Amino acid sequence: MTLISDIEILDDPGKTPGRGQTAASWAGEDIDKARTTTVEAEGHRRVYIETYGCQMNVSDSEIVASVLRQNGFGLTRNEEEADVVLLNTCAIRENAEQKVRRRLRDFQGRKRTGRNASSNGNGSGSSPIRLGVLGCMAERLRTKLLEQERLVDLVVGPDAYRDLPRLLRETDETGQAAVNVHLSREETYADIAPVRYDTNGVSAFVSIMRGCDNMCSFCVVPFTRGRERSRPVSSILSECARLVEAGYKEVTVLGQNVNSYRFQQDGVTVDFAELLQRISFVSPELRIRYSTSHPKDCSDDLLHLHRERPNVCNYIHLPVQHGNTEVLERMRRTYCRDEYLRLIERARMLAPDISLSTDIIAGFCGETEAQHRDTLSLMEQVRYDYAYTFMYSERPDTYAARKYEDDIPEEVKKRRLSEIIALQQRISLERNQEEVGREHVVLVERESKRSTLQLCGRTDTNKMVVFDRKTYEPGEYVRVRITGCTSATLLADPLGRTTLFEFAESAAA
Ligand code: 5AD
Ligand code: SF4
Repeated sequence: MTLISDIEILDDPGKTPGRGQTAASWAGEDIDKARTTTVEAEGHRRVYIETYGCQMNVSDSEIVASVLRQNGFGLTRNEEEADVVLLNTCAIRENAEQKVRRRLRDFQGRKRTGRNASSNGNGSGSSPIRLGVLGCMAERLRTKLLEQERLVDLVVGPDAYRDLPRLLRETDETGQAAVNVHLSREETYADIAPVRYDTNGVSAFVSIMRGCDNMCSFCVVPFTRGRERSRPVSSILSECARLVEAGYKEVTVLGQNVNSYRFQQDGVTVDFAELLQRISFVSPELRIRYSTSHPKDCSDDLLHLHRERPNVCNYIHLPVQHGNTEVLERMRRTYCRDEYLRLIERARMLAPDISLSTDIIAGFCGETEAQHRDTLSLMEQVRYDYAYTFMYSERPDTYAARKYEDDIPEEVKKRRLSEIIALQQRISLERNQEEVGREHVVLVERESKRSTLQLCGRTDTNKMVVFDRKTYEPGEYVRVRITGCTSATLLADPLGRTTLFEFAESAAA
């Protein structure tokens, strides 16, 4: 898989990369690369967690870390010294699964030679290393992983993380694999304070709902993550308030389809726009992003918020998936090309200057050359700032796998994907060139990887900016003027420290 932002990059625009991670994660869903824990904690047995897939999985790993910490385990970033190795997995495309299987074999080899258990030196050498698969691959592959391949000691689905300590005890006691892949209709982990690891101390993920009821025909998520359920408003607001107290400046609110958030509290139904508004009042200096939205539920109330609240970022990730109405119907996306285009028009009318990104799938079942060209023409029409692009990968049990033939040859899928990528690169570059000369407020995230003399951070439109360090620090808002760009990064001159409030006032004046 190739992601647009892999191609030309000055700086990693998202998280600090872990093992093998490239700079692909600035905003949208998918990464397909591993990230690892970076917190060293005192504890009897040490756990190493490697995370694959979307931001939701990163957030889940923080919950897993919290559950295990509360139960006396330590966390390590060093796989060599781990007593328990957990891979938090992704099943969205076949290549994501293959990566995890290769990694499991690697760890299994070590397990056999006892390399980890003998080298950890933490006095806990009595238990052999335990290897676990968490997350989206758990339910689908449990029989294979446990019986045919005998690869793992633990298989734990996304709704069973509270059970991890018990499952670990069980496998220790019996020497047999322990499994819990039960999908819940209620679990939101609302009461669990996530352990923020791999953190820059500036931005954090806050999960607000789990599961998905949409049943897009290509997607395995409803099967691996279960039914949609929303987390209580009060627990989301208190988590955001705690983050502000701890010095965080940005939250990304997460769910498979955040727009369908709905929670009944005191006889009132809080929808996503209302929730976002309440979060925006937690602190005027806390910037808010969200991911991912489904175009079918993108309300005017939500679009208005982008303009009305200075701390709700001027950016939406709105996956279109395809540019042809007939393909969209087969994908079961519930909107047609024209409806999607009207939504984009409306978004730009209600929130001028909003930046947009999307997800696009090339080579879906039965896609003709003319239908592929409809995707290209839609991209030309919308002119997204970024796009995450994928080759269709058939997923077992999905509607598409049952009803349609995966009939587009691999070379054709690849060629169509590369046409989509080349077009998006050109558009991204043009969009970035339009930024030269403009002023933005950037939240500094960290030092640039190219030079210790430079810092980087994102605009509120989610564009990565690199500029001279001077006396600025991560966590500060800095006013900048854009001086140059590539298709992935803006270069800027810093003009001075600011606040979100001050910048919004000066922009309005
Ligand atoms: N094949 C290719 N891409 C997929 N996605 C989801 N399922 C598949 C699949 N079977 C993409 C969609 C989605 C993103 C997270 O991953 O574009 O929005
Ligand atoms: Fe998958 Fe569609 Fe749900 Fe997104 S909205 S997680 S693509 S089923």
